[in-house]
Amino acid sequence: MGIYARALKVRDFRSYEAYELALSEGVTVLAGPNAAGKTNLVEALQLLTAGQSFRRPSPADLVRTGASRAEAALLLEGDGRRLDMGLVSERGRRSFSRNGKRVTAAGVRGVLPSVLFCPDHLDMIKRSASVRRAALDDFGVQLNESYAQLVSTYERALEQRNNLLKDRFVPAELLAAWDDAIVSAGASVLVHRLALLERVRTRLVEVYGAIAPRETVDVRYRASVGDIPADESRDREAVASHLSRALAETREEERRRGLTLVGPHRDEVVFMIDGREARSFASQGQQRSLVLAWKIAEVEVTRDILGRYPILLLDDVMSELDAARRESVVRFIADEIQTVITTTNLGYFTDEVLDRAAVVRIGSDERDVR
Ligand SMILES: Nc1ncnc2c1ncn2[C@@H]1O[C@H](COP(=O)(O)OP(=O)(O)O)[C@@H](O)[C@H]1O
Ligand SMILES: [Mg+2]
Repeated sequence: MGIYARALKVRDFRSYEAYELALSEGVTVLAGPNAAGKTNLVEALQLLTAGQSFRRPSPADLVRTGASRAEAALLLEGDGRRLDMGLVSERGRRSFSRNGKRVTAAGVRGVLPSVLFCPDHLDMIKRSASVRRAALDDFGVQLNESYAQLVSTYERALEQRNNLLKDRFVPAELLAAWDDAIVSAGASVLVHRLALLERVRTRLVEVYGAIAPRETVDVRYRASVGDIPADESRDREAVASHLSRALAETREEERRRGLTLVGPHRDEVVFMIDGREARSFASQGQQRSLVLAWKIAEVEVTRDILGRYPILLLDDVMSELDAARRESVVRFIADEIQTVITTTNLGYFTDEVLDRAAVVRIGSDERDVR
């Protein structure tokens, strides 16, 4: 049961002239040397399921050097449905289609969501706050279309307001109009984020407990407007009044610095291990376990909310995890979750996994990478 990705076809996409990849309902392992084009395929899969890619490519980046038009298509099948998701990049523009009809990125999102885990994510605990906010938002937009709209409305309002703040002579009334826009969109973004993080938190605690049973983990939202009490976190009006008050309080400083200093774009997602902030206290191993647990939590929350598992895209992470954490991944995937794993080395997988998986060799030489 459920909907699965069956086949990916690309043409003049990144390093590929023409290529077709058949996908297993279970695990597909893409094995090949560096620069063989494994991540390029993962990127196509992510674009056609999430409507965006972790590499944040410009449309031209996707077009194979020397070609003028890139195409990618993903066939989804299951639950009596058959859907063709398409992507074309041409003349500096990217467009999506669904069963041949042109749609926006929102039109390809949500049918089969995806969760991607790549080496870039491994230090997300230590990096700047924007990385952790993006992790939450990129996940949220796949689950809820209004989340995506609110985030982009907020970002537009923020950009306009920041432009005004840079102008020293801007009249107060004009700024006030943008305050309202910020408060309205910002409060909605906050309410969505708080609700989503609460769901992820529940699963994260559970999953981390299975990976590292002797440690306790937590994740909190640290809002730049100050504490939002849990009983107000679902109340848009209450959240809006926190934001509005904080804006009034920082007005002077904002005018001085020409920047909006409070709001969802300045908030923090804070991870804790045994009561201490993971960003400064966790060992590298603990951070990796946390990120792994976060990704698995995303998979579980997708099922909690949409009633089906996403496709899991594991790009080159097995080599970064130790044997115990690899084992956690494999145990978690079990038989239920469609997964695509890329690797340079099949030695990271046990025979038990390889026997069940479809192994596809990527790269021109047919040399056994095992
Ligand atoms: N638009 C493009 N046109 C041609 N080659 C590209 C394009 N984008 C990326 N590549 C090439 O794809 C290769 C990297 O592919 P990638 O999927 O990242 O490899 P890996 O198998 O290591 O994951 C590089 O050699 C890069 O130059
Ligand atoms: Mg790669």
